[in-house]
Amino acid sequence: MHLERDIDLKPFNTFGIHARADALGRFGDVSTLREMLKATDGLQRLILGGGSNILLTQDFHGVVLMNGISGIELVREDADHVWVKAGAGIVWHDLVLYFVQRGWGGVENMSLIPGKVGAAPMQNIGAYGVELKDVFHELEALRVDDGEVVHFDKVACAFGYRESFFKRAGKDRFVILNVTLRLSKHPVLNTSYGNIKQELERRGVSTPSLVDVSEAVIAIRQSKLPDPAVIGNAGSFFKNPVVSAEVAQRIRAEYADMPGYPTGDGLVKLAAGWLIEKAGWKGYREGAFGVHAAQALVLVNHGGAAGKDIFELSTHILADIQERFGVELEREVNIL
Ligand code: FAD
Ligand code: EPU
Repeated sequence: MHLERDIDLKPFNTFGIHARADALGRFGDVSTLREMLKATDGLQRLILGGGSNILLTQDFHGVVLMNGISGIELVREDADHVWVKAGAGIVWHDLVLYFVQRGWGGVENMSLIPGKVGAAPMQNIGAYGVELKDVFHELEALRVDDGEVVHFDKVACAFGYRESFFKRAGKDRFVILNVTLRLSKHPVLNTSYGNIKQELERRGVSTPSLVDVSEAVIAIRQSKLPDPAVIGNAGSFFKNPVVSAEVAQRIRAEYADMPGYPTGDGLVKLAAGWLIEKAGWKGYREGAFGVHAAQALVLVNHGGAAGKDIFELSTHILADIQERFGVELEREVNIL
C-alpha cells in the first residue's frame, strides 16, 4: 500500500481546479482498499472516480482514495437478457461501448457520460430518457465502518432523479466496488427523446442499430456540452427543478415557450437551462469562469478559476432564479 503526499488534484477533476490533498492512494482490489481504510482511520476521506461531478472549493485536508477496480464478468444469461458485473473503476463510456458492440441494449442513450462505473449509482446517472436504474440489477459496496461487503438491490439504492441512498443517508459510509446491470439481447431502441430521431435522419439512418443510436447521442452531446479536456466543467451544475402545476402555469402565463415535462404525479419538471438562459446568464463570463455559451446549465472554468468563484457564481444564479421565477434550484454537482 502506497500513499502519495501533498498532491495537486487538478488532473483528477474535470473542472480543472487546482486544490491540494494531503495524500492520495490508489486501490484496485478490496484488500488494498481495506488496508487503506485501516491506515487512514480517523482522517477525512474522499472516494474518487473520474472527478467529473465534483467542485473543489478548497484544499482537501484528508486522503483521496482513487478507485481502480477493473473487470467485466458475464454473471448470468437467459434467452432475453444478460447480467454483467462491472468493476467500479471502469470508465462508464468504455462499458457502454462494450455492451453496444455486443448488441446488448439498455445503456446506449447514456453514451459518453463521463466518469466511472462506481459513481453511476451515486446520482443514478441519466440521459436521453434513460437512467441507470432502468438497467440496474445490484451492486456490492464495502461498508467503511467494519469493512464488510454489502449487497444492495434496486430498492435499497433508493434511486430517484439524480438521487440515491449513497448521496443521502449512505453518504461517505460505503465504497461501491462493482455494479451488475441487466441488458437486453433484443433491444427496443428509445429514439423519442430530444433530437435523437433528427440526428439519425441527418445521418441517413432509417433502421438504426445500437451503434447508430450511441453515435447519434455522442454527436448531440458533443454539439452541446463542453469537452472537459478543453473547457473545465462538471456537466449540469443544477438539477432540473420539479414544481407544482400551478407554479409551471404561472411562469408559462408570462413565457408561453417555457419547456415543461409532466412527471405523472401532478408535478412538472422544468428545464433549469431554460430558466438560467431566460435570466440572461447564458455565455456570462467573469474572468476565468462563467456559464457555457451553448448550454446555460453548465458552469465552466475557462482556465485558472478557483472553485470558490464557481461556487459563488452558482449562489448568484440560485438567488436570481428564485427572485425572477420563484423557483428554487438545487446544485447537482458535489461540493467539496
Ligand atoms: P466523481 O466525480 O469522481 O465522484 C462523484 C461523487 O461520487 C463523489 O461524491 C464521490 O465521492 C462519489 N463516488 C465516486 N465513486 C464512488 C464509489 N466507487 N463509491 C462511493 N462513492 C463514490 N451525469 C449524468 O447523470 N448525465 C449526464 O448526461 C452527464 N453529463 C455530463 C457531461 C459532462 C461534460 C460532465 C463533465 C459530467 C456529466 N455528468 C452527467 C456528471 C458525471 O459524469 C456523473 O455524475 C458521473 O457518474 C460521475 O462519475 P465520476 O467517476 O467522475 O465521479
Ligand atoms: N435549454 C435552454 N437553454 C439552455 C439549455 C437548455 O433553453 O441553455 C432548454 C432546451 O432547449 C430544452 C431543455 O432546456 O428545451 C432541456 O435541455 P437539454 O435537452 O439540453 O437537457 P438538460 O435538461 O439541460 C438534462 C440533463 C443532462 C442530460 C440531458 C440529456 C439534468 C440536470 N441534466 O440536461 O445531464 O445529458 O438532459 O438527457 O438533468 C448532467 O447531469 O450533468 C447532464 C449533462
